[in-house]
Amino acid sequence: MDKQEKKIEIGVVGLGLMGSSIITALLISGCKVIAVAPISEDLNHAPEWITHYLNESYKHQLIFDCVADYLNKVTFTENYKDLKNCGLVMECVTENIDIKKLVYQKIEQHISAEAILTTNTSAIPIDFLKEHVQYANRFIGVHWAEPAFTTKFLEIVCSTKTDIAIAENLYKIATSWGKEPTLLRKDIRGFITNRIMYAMYREAFYLVENGYATIEDVDRSCRNDGGHWMPFCGLFRYMDITGLQAYYNVMKDLFPTLNNQTEVPNLIKHIAEDGGTGITNGKGFYNYTKQEAAEWEKAYEEFAFDIRELSNKYPINLVEKRVQAFNDNLPTNQLKGAEKNILITEEKNI
Ligand SMILES: NC(=O)c1ccc[n+]([C@@H]2O[C@H](COP(=O)([O-])OP(=O)(O)OC[C@H]3O[C@@H](n4cnc5c(N)ncnc54)[C@H](O)[C@@H]3O)[C@@H](O)[C@H]2O)c1
Repeated sequence: MDKQEKKIEIGVVGLGLMGSSIITALLISGCKVIAVAPISEDLNHAPEWITHYLNESYKHQLIFDCVADYLNKVTFTENYKDLKNCGLVMECVTENIDIKKLVYQKIEQHISAEAILTTNTSAIPIDFLKEHVQYANRFIGVHWAEPAFTTKFLEIVCSTKTDIAIAENLYKIATSWGKEPTLLRKDIRGFITNRIMYAMYREAFYLVENGYATIEDVDRSCRNDGGHWMPFCGLFRYMDITGLQAYYNVMKDLFPTLNNQTEVPNLIKHIAEDGGTGITNGKGFYNYTKQEAAEWEKAYEEFAFDIRELSNKYPINLVEKRVQAFNDNLPTNQLKGAEKNILITEEKNI
């Protein structure tokens, strides 16, 4: 890894769920972080949450140095001025355009015109948000997923004004944080993952609201089908592995029957308008006692470390590396293409 890349001081503005998780990810990858609390309450929980995440990371052998060494690299502050030396600042405040806009004004008073400014928005188009920054060429969507310190997920999204070279550089930097980023050269609402996930959510509501299946059945089905192979490979690779022709045939008849409603489903509307938030207040698609909610939270945290370990065992370049290793052990110059392929297939079958 390029040492220069690691040396930039990174600012994170907004220390809620995601901000705290992102700071943990950055500390784990060796970065120095300026953590800005836009509202004072953030300082009541963020240091505690980050310490907890680091302790868990130590327990699960994601880190090996003592937790205090990582904590020494983060400065908690309410003063935007402390961002002045940051080469990269990540906005991570609540999903509200007016709040984000105000926060950009405060950030841009102190950072240089060259410093990269990013947003962790889940769904506000980067092209909308870029209208509220001073230097749109260095403004980029950097969409993390929870827990930011265990997943390899990261979407880097350009607006129409983003300088692609800056985005490409950020892509390289993100790789040095242990991420497997994707680069969207053109902004699209929902980016890659939310477009795909929300297509799935819409269909899930359709099945339940129309009496085809219960919530429990839909959840069980997703967990045991997609849940079984998605940590291994993506959708297109999966179609290749399991037989592309079958998908081609099924699509012709199935696609016209899939739900494409544009209104928010009543099932979530009623729960949300009734104040349900899920496990945080025990009212969601399922109901939770306090203890059940705490156990779900804890189990998910444990699972995040385990799934990371499993996906590390099957890295994205596994086959490429195996083929390379196989070829390196052979006098490759004596192997013709077809022979190579046979040997590779044999190796795959072992
Ligand atoms: N939670 C997720 O899983 C997730 C995943 C990807 C992206 N995101 C995005 O990350 C961003 C932050 O989400 P989160 O889940 O951390 O939310 P959160 O509610 O946990 O934290 C929001 C933070 O916004 C800040 N904030 C609140 N009111 C403010 C105000 N009036 N002025 C300035 N700052 C204010 C505070 O620092 C607060 O901690 C959002 O844009 C969200 O869409 C969240």
